[in-house]
Amino acid sequence: MKYSALSQQGRRTTPPPISWLMKTALAHPGLISLAAGFTDNATLPVRSARKLLNEILATPQSGQPALQYGTTAGEPALRQLTATRLQQLDGQQDKSHAADRVIITSGSQQLLYMTMEALCDEGDIVLVEDPTYFVFLGILQSRGVRACGVKLERDGLSLAHLEAVLERLKKSGELARVKALYLVSYFQNPTGATTSLAKKAAVLKLLRSYERAAGHPLYLLEDAAYRELRFAGQDIPSALTLRGAADRVIYAGTYSKSFATGARLGFGLLPEPLFSTVINIKGNHDFGSANLIQALLTRALASNQYGQHLNRIRKGYARKAAIMQRALAEHFPADAEIWSAEGGLYFWVRLPAKIRTGVKSKLFQTALKNNVLYVPGSLCYADDPARPKPDHEMRLSFGSASETALREGVARLGATLRQLSSRKS
Ligand SMILES: Cc1ncc(COP(=O)(O)O)c(C=O)c1O
Repeated sequence: MKYSALSQQGRRTTPPPISWLMKTALAHPGLISLAAGFTDNATLPVRSARKLLNEILATPQSGQPALQYGTTAGEPALRQLTATRLQQLDGQQDKSHAADRVIITSGSQQLLYMTMEALCDEGDIVLVEDPTYFVFLGILQSRGVRACGVKLERDGLSLAHLEAVLERLKKSGELARVKALYLVSYFQNPTGATTSLAKKAAVLKLLRSYERAAGHPLYLLEDAAYRELRFAGQDIPSALTLRGAADRVIYAGTYSKSFATGARLGFGLLPEPLFSTVINIKGNHDFGSANLIQALLTRALASNQYGQHLNRIRKGYARKAAIMQRALAEHFPADAEIWSAEGGLYFWVRLPAKIRTGVKSKLFQTALKNNVLYVPGSLCYADDPARPKPDHEMRLSFGSASETALREGVARLGATLRQLSSRKS
C-alpha cells in the first residue's frame, strides 16, 4: 500500500523506551532489574485493600455507587480528601489548595498527558529539567512538542541556565511557543534531586518575568509523584504555596507510589481556564477514572490506612536505599559520582565521561549478559542540537528488587564495570 492511514501523531510516535525495558526484563529470566520504576511488591497493601474492598461491597448502598460510573472530575469525597491532605502537607489552606480545583485521573500520567493536550500545539515548546522523566519526553515527542532542556544541579534546575534559555528563546522569536516548565520537584525521576522552595519561587518569578514577551501565561507544572516517599529529612512545601501560584501552578500528584501502583490513581490541581479545559478533555478520554478504585482510595485516606501504609513503606525504602548506597560504595569505581536520595526510588550514577552507558554500549550489553538491567541516562535527556546527549550516566532503582537482589544486582554491575575496564587496559 502506498499511503499510510496513520495520523501525523501516529506516525510520529516512537516506541516508548519503558515498553522496551519491561519487555527486556521479561525476556531474561534470572535478570535483576534495577531499571524498573516499580514499587516494592512485598509492601503492596493487599490486606488493607481486601478489607476496604470488602467494606465497600458489603452492602448495596456502598457497593452500587462504587460499581457505577462516576463523574469526570472524580468522586467528591476523594477530591476533598486529596485537597485536605495537600493542605496539611503544605500547611496552607487557600485558593490554590481548594477541593474544587482537584481532578482525579487515571494515574498522574493521564494528568500530564491531558495538560499537554490542553496547552500545546505541534511546534510548541515545554521547558524540562535536563535530564527528566523519560515518559514525559515521550508525550512531548508524540505530540510534536519540543522539549527544551534546562541543566539540572544537585539541588534542582540551574536558574542561570533557565534564564539563559528563556533569553535565547526570546531573541530567536520562539518565546511565544513556550507554554510551560515541567519540574519533577521531589526525588526527581531519574536523578533523585529535590528542588528547594526558594528555587521553586525563583523559577516562578523568572517565568512571570517573560510572560509579557511570550504574550501568554507560562505555567509551572510541578510533578510531585514521589513527594510522599520521603524517608529522611523534612518535607518541602509545594509550589502551590508560592505567591502568584493560584493562577500559574499546576500540581500533579499520584496515589500510585504512595499506596498501590496497580490502582493507578493520580490527581491534579489546576488553575482556570486549564481546570475546565482538562475536565472537557477527560470527558473525551474516559469521562471519569474507575469508581471502584476511587472508593478504595477514599476509604484508605479517610480511615488512615493510607497513612499507616506510608509509614511502613517509608521504613522499607529507607532500608533499601541504605543497602544500595553501601553496595555502590563497595562495588563501583571510586571515580563514579553517586547521587543518593532522601526519598523516592532512584539513585543516579555519573561515571567518567569515557564510559558509555547507552543501550548500544558495551557496558549495557555486557550488563544484560550478566543478567542486570539499568536505565541508560541518555534516555532521560531532551534532544538538543546544541549539545550531544550525555551518555555516561545511569538510573538505578531500589524500588522493586528484593534486598538480596539489590546487593547482587549492584555487585553484578560493579563486576561488569571492572570486566570492561580490565579488558581495555
Ligand atoms: C515523575 C513521574 N511522574 C508521573 C509518573 C506516573 O505515575 P502514575 O501514572 O502511576 O501516577 C511517574 C511514574 O513512574 C513518574 O516517575
